[in-house]
Amino acid sequence: MIFDELNLLLTNGAKKAGYNENISATFSNLPKASDFQCNDCFALAKKLGKNPFEMAEEIVKNIDKNDNYIFEVARPAFINIKLTDEKLKKLGQEFLLDKRGGVPCHKDKKKVLLDYGGANVAKALHVGHLRSPIIGESLKRLYRFLGDEVIADVHLGDWGLQMGLTELQLFLDGNLDYYFNQGEEKEITLAMLNEAYPKASARKNTDAKFKEEADEWTLKIQKKEEPYYTIYKKIREVSVKEIKKHYSELGAEFDLWFGESDAQDYIDEAIKIIEDKGLSRLSDGALVVDVAIEGENIPIPKTSDDEVQRYKNPMPPAILKKYNGGVLYATTDIATILMRNQMFKDLDRIEYIVDLRQKNHFTQVFRVCKMSGISPEKQELLHIGYGTMNGKDGKPFKTRSGDTIKLEDIIDLLVNRAGEKLKSNGVKYNRSLALAIGVGAMKFGDLINNVDKDYVFDIDKFLSFEGKTGPYLQYTAVRINSILNKTGVTEAKDFAIYNEETKDIIKNILKLNSSYEICYTNKTLSPLCLASYNLASAFSTFYNNVNVINEKDEKKKQSYIALLMLVKKKLCQALDILAIDIPEKM
Ligand code: ARG
Repeated sequence: MIFDELNLLLTNGAKKAGYNENISATFSNLPKASDFQCNDCFALAKKLGKNPFEMAEEIVKNIDKNDNYIFEVARPAFINIKLTDEKLKKLGQEFLLDKRGGVPCHKDKKKVLLDYGGANVAKALHVGHLRSPIIGESLKRLYRFLGDEVIADVHLGDWGLQMGLTELQLFLDGNLDYYFNQGEEKEITLAMLNEAYPKASARKNTDAKFKEEADEWTLKIQKKEEPYYTIYKKIREVSVKEIKKHYSELGAEFDLWFGESDAQDYIDEAIKIIEDKGLSRLSDGALVVDVAIEGENIPIPKTSDDEVQRYKNPMPPAILKKYNGGVLYATTDIATILMRNQMFKDLDRIEYIVDLRQKNHFTQVFRVCKMSGISPEKQELLHIGYGTMNGKDGKPFKTRSGDTIKLEDIIDLLVNRAGEKLKSNGVKYNRSLALAIGVGAMKFGDLINNVDKDYVFDIDKFLSFEGKTGPYLQYTAVRINSILNKTGVTEAKDFAIYNEETKDIIKNILKLNSSYEICYTNKTLSPLCLASYNLASAFSTFYNNVNVINEKDEKKKQSYIALLMLVKKKLCQALDILAIDIPEKM
C-alpha cells in the first residue's frame, strides 16, 4: 500500500536526520496544494525541544531520492507530498491489472456471524425493518471482500407473543375451526395474517384477559403442543415466503434462515449454565439475571407517593422466564448465542445490525453471555445500532394517517417513482429496471449516512440522477459501458497519463481504495459511498473534457479506454459492496 511506502521514506529520512522515530503521512487536507501531508514534526519537535520548521526541513533533506514523490516543507511545519506523474502512471497500471483493483486483503482473517434482517413472522414487514437488510448486506459483502469468513443469519422473530396473538385472533375469527375438529380445512393466507395481527395487537393493549389468553397460546406454541404448533408452522411458512420475496427485492441474501424458534432446543441448557454459575434469581415468579454495573440504576427522587419509581441510568435485570414459564426475547437471544457457538467453532465476532433503540436489550444479552461464559472471553459481541428513517417533518416516517408504513409500500413507491424517471428519460419501463434504480437509490440514500444517525427519507433527492445519489453512480457506470461498447475494445493493458483529469481520477481511486479499511474499522459504509461519488464526479469531468470515441491518436485513445475500464472496474466493485445493481440502461 502507498502509505507503507510513504511512511518508510519519511521514517528513514527522519532517522538519517538523527530522529529515531516513526513518522507518517495522511491524505492532504488541501488537495490543491498537495496529495498527502505529514504533521508529525509539530509533536516531535515539541517532545525534543526543537524548532518544528527546521526539523521538517532536515527530514525532507534526508529523504532518499525517488521518482514517485515530491516532498516539500510548508510553514509552519508541514511536510507536503505530491505524487509524480511517473508514480500516478504506475498506480493506474497497477490498479488496472490487479484483480482487486489495488485493495489489499486482510492477512488476519476473522470468522464473523452477522445477524441482520430480523423480520417478524406473522407481522407485515414495515419501514423499521428497512435499514437492517440494507446495512447488514453491505457489511457482509465488505467483510468478505476484505477476507473474513462471514455467515449471514436472518434471525426471524418467530417465537414471541405475536405468534400467540395471531393464532388466537385467527381462532376467534373462525379461521382455525378445522384444527379444532369443527369444520372444513381453510388455507391460512397472507391476507388473514395481515388482518389478524394488527387487530390482536391493538386489543391486547386494552383487554387484559385477551392478553393473558394470548400469553397462554404463546406458551402452548413454545411447548410445541398440538394443534397450536402445527398452526404455528403453517403461519410461519406463509409469512416466510413473503419475507423472502421482500428481502430478495432488496438484494439481501442469507446463508441461514434461522429464527428465534431454532434456539428453543438450547434454552434449557443456557438457563442451566446461568443457574449453575449462580447468576439468576427469582423475582415475582420470574427468573431474572441482574446485569447492572456501577453507575447504573440511579433512582430519581419521587415527587409523590404513588409515583412509579424511575431511574436516571436504568439497567433492569434480564428476564429469562416469565411468571408462566414462557420465554422472552432476551432468552432466545442468549440461547441463540449458545447455539451459534456450538454450531460454528471459533467465531471471532457476532454482530447484530439492529435498531439503536434495542441498545439495552443487547447490553443485557451480551452481559449475561459474558458472565456465564456462553460467549467465550475472546469473542466480540457487537450491536451495530442504526438510527431511524424519518419523514421530512423529522419524525419517524409514517403514512399520512399516522400508521407505520409497510415495507411493501415503500418498495412500490420507489419502483413507481423510478419508473416515471425512466419514462421521462425515454427509456421503456420494465419492473426489474425500475426496481434496480429505485432500490439502488434507497440504499445509497441510506448508506451514505453514518449508521447510527437518523436520516430523512427524501425520495426526490434519492432518485435524482445528479449529486450524491445511487442513480448518479449507476448512470456513470451505464455511460461508461455504453462508450466501451461503442469502441468494441474488451481488454486494455497500457495505461498512460495525458491530462490533469486522468491524474485526478487516479488520486480519487487511491482514496476510494483506502475507504474500504475505514469502513471496516468504523462499521459504516458512508466513506465508501462518498469516495465512490467523488470518483464518479472526477470521471464526469474527464468525460466532459475529453472525446474518447473521436480521438485520432491511437495510442492516446487506447489509454483513455484503459482509464474507462479502470473506472468501471472500481465503480462496479464499490457498487457490488453496496449491493446496488447496475442497470443495462437508464
Ligand atoms: N425481530 C427483531 C425485531 O423486529 C429483530 C431481531 C434482531 N436480532 C436479534 N438477534 N435480536 O425487533
